[in-house]
Amino acid sequence: MTTNHTNPRLKRLLKRYGKKTSPVRWDFFVGYRPLVRYRMERQTKKLLGLIKRNQQSNQEFTLLDVGCGTGRYLTHFLSLGKAVGVDISKPMLEQAEKNTNGRATLIQADAENLPFKDNTFDVVTCSYLLENLNGPKDNPKKVLNEMYRVTKNKGQIIFTVETWYSMPNLISYVISFLKRKTPLNFYSVKKIKELTKRIDVQSINIYGLSPITVFFPWARDPLSMMKLIERIDNKLEKLMPLFGTQLIIEIKK
Ligand SMILES: C[S@@+](CC[C@H](N)C(=O)[O-])C[C@H]1O[C@@H](n2cnc3c(N)ncnc32)[C@H](O)[C@@H]1O
Repeated sequence: MTTNHTNPRLKRLLKRYGKKTSPVRWDFFVGYRPLVRYRMERQTKKLLGLIKRNQQSNQEFTLLDVGCGTGRYLTHFLSLGKAVGVDISKPMLEQAEKNTNGRATLIQADAENLPFKDNTFDVVTCSYLLENLNGPKDNPKKVLNEMYRVTKNKGQIIFTVETWYSMPNLISYVISFLKRKTPLNFYSVKKIKELTKRIDVQSINIYGLSPITVFFPWARDPLSMMKLIERIDNKLEKLMPLFGTQLIIEIKK
């Protein structure tokens, strides 16, 4: 990628994610707190389930993870097919290279301008990116359009977003407000419908993830209650399918 340092949006993104410490901080965030780790693992399981459900058995396919970070998903995707990761941050990609033992193809690029031809991938995924596109010039719609463009016809696009009606996210919102920082770009079902309104698709499914953790602020990580939390989530996800700390959106092109 030719890094255009005169483009203020890219400059801002590289400053935010291009630090040597960025991968360590992200992996620490993902793995340290039991509740966060639980949600991440639940999210990965859900994603893999959606992909497997849509694929013909024994058929090799190619998958792209946009904003792949340290390769959290790629390590799992490699067992399903050929995996490609794109990220704006070099340090994140270097860590992804280590985490995937060099088995994934990793490319430094901007999610708003993906360096691939139309209809290239069977599956395109993206997690924890759209809510982080909170700068004045960031354009989540453009990212989604790019993901759509590079997905093959009849292919699958799956992305996740954090919701604003969850306790940890509301706390993060208030902290940002108090620190006069721009809050993360949290989503609701309505906002997802607006985002996906103009793309031509076979179907869109929205799934709420982990409704129970909506009620837990970050500071209360009940390690001893994880099994119970999982059981409650299994029930609530069926009863309240559009409610949760995250939404997972599955689009069939
Ligand atoms: C919060 S991390 C999530 C990483 C990974 N998807 C996961 O779930 O573990 C967000 C990632 O998106 C990348 N990113 C942010 N803006 C981007 C852009 N415009 N194009 C490509 N990558 C971007 C960051 O460098 C960072 O690695």
